[in-house]
Amino acid sequence: MSDNTSIRQYSSYRNLPTLAGLATIADAARPGLTVEQCVTRLKRFHYAFLRLHEILTARITAEPIYELKCGFSHHAYLCAEHVQALRTRVGEMREPPLGLEEIPHPGLEIFFDEILAAPKSSEVLVGVYEKALPALDAALARYMDDTNPLADAPSNRVCRFARLEVGDMIAYGKRSIECLVGGRERETINNWMRLLDDCLGSAGALDGVEPCSDKTISRYYSARPYVYDPVPKRDERFQDLFNQGVNPEAFLYDPAFDAKPKTLMMHFKRLREIDVPEMMASIIFETKGKPWGYYRDMSRQLWDEARHAMMGEVGFAAAGVDWTKARITHNWSLRLNTECKPFERHAVLYFIEQGLMTKTGKRYEWEVGVESGEPLSRLFQDFDWADEVLHAALGREWYIPQIGDWKQAIAYGDECWSRILSNWTTVRDKGLTRHENWWPGVYRQACRHWGVEPDPKVLAYATTYENTRADLKTVSTSG
Ligand SMILES: [Fe+2]
Ligand SMILES: [Fe+2]
Repeated sequence: MSDNTSIRQYSSYRNLPTLAGLATIADAARPGLTVEQCVTRLKRFHYAFLRLHEILTARITAEPIYELKCGFSHHAYLCAEHVQALRTRVGEMREPPLGLEEIPHPGLEIFFDEILAAPKSSEVLVGVYEKALPALDAALARYMDDTNPLADAPSNRVCRFARLEVGDMIAYGKRSIECLVGGRERETINNWMRLLDDCLGSAGALDGVEPCSDKTISRYYSARPYVYDPVPKRDERFQDLFNQGVNPEAFLYDPAFDAKPKTLMMHFKRLREIDVPEMMASIIFETKGKPWGYYRDMSRQLWDEARHAMMGEVGFAAAGVDWTKARITHNWSLRLNTECKPFERHAVLYFIEQGLMTKTGKRYEWEVGVESGEPLSRLFQDFDWADEVLHAALGREWYIPQIGDWKQAIAYGDECWSRILSNWTTVRDKGLTRHENWWPGVYRQACRHWGVEPDPKVLAYATTYENTRADLKTVSTSG
């Protein structure tokens, strides 16, 4: 009786699913990759996610299109989580020292360097979403075909979860490319795409399983080392980037105003938070040599802040407000990114986020949401508050130990922040803004949508940031 026959004749008790639902006996009876072969492939997946995290993070600040900024923030975070999962799994496979910082193949290094250094957004989109992620997905699928589903079930699980999100990312990229990359541009990109293919070919595909081509690879975009661009950019919907003509905090904390119009100020504050990913991306990219947990946690926080901005976008849309009429500025991220060192930016972030934990911080914003009777505002502020509690904890974990104790950490953040003086007059005198009061226009739109007459007192609100730093010591802006 051959082995196959014996397996065919084998049956589980009352035909119950075999092997805890992992596989059939026949599938599990086929030997697969050895531990060493598995580790070699998993390390390549790890490298791919690591580099994708780096590339996406690097582009958040200087990418002008808001939707892509948010998409990159999301996907950088997803990649960070998969890096973490793969690091953990490799660590379980008799592999100390893990060698996770080694570059698995020079062809792969050039492949990712090229995408990192590509000057245009369209090239990054095509490189990440049409080349790198599909190559990674194919490699993950091949791994799952090749490894033993019983013996290597823990790796299979990591790959299976990764493929779910890799698939989502590819679908997002495909739709974005259809919207943004036209036929002519595509022609010039295609030459460069061949170089990317050659890189993968030289590495024996992303997983190193195919024969390696011996074609010589010459770097194109990455012939000169990539230089990070810390200057935030915005698309054309963002007008008046230095406007400080409306002080939403002063309105929000004024008991003379009703909660309902205050929800609009909170939507504004949320959407303005798009400057936090712009600033945090610069910290993450420019801070080297930390444990992976640091990058994972910072990327999570960055993604939360992008979500907060999108909650503002949704809030405005639901209130019938064209958000481009509110002046969503980049003053904060621009100044921190160009006037402070990465560690000083982290100090400022921590200082601001600590301020959100007081009674007048996130709890108050949630209470306003509840009081307003607007279910969406209430819900968004509820989660925003929860996220900020997490961020304060992440700050305690990663920032405070670098500086000493809690008090020193706060004092240093305050000191760094105090160095950024108000630029109200400078930006006005340079003709960068007239600090136009956008509030009445936005409030009127919402009133039309709500079917109510504007309250003359609310309509007349005209407190600016002239005498306050567009931020505050006592009340927060971003975070
Ligand atoms: Fe936030
Ligand atoms: Fe935050």
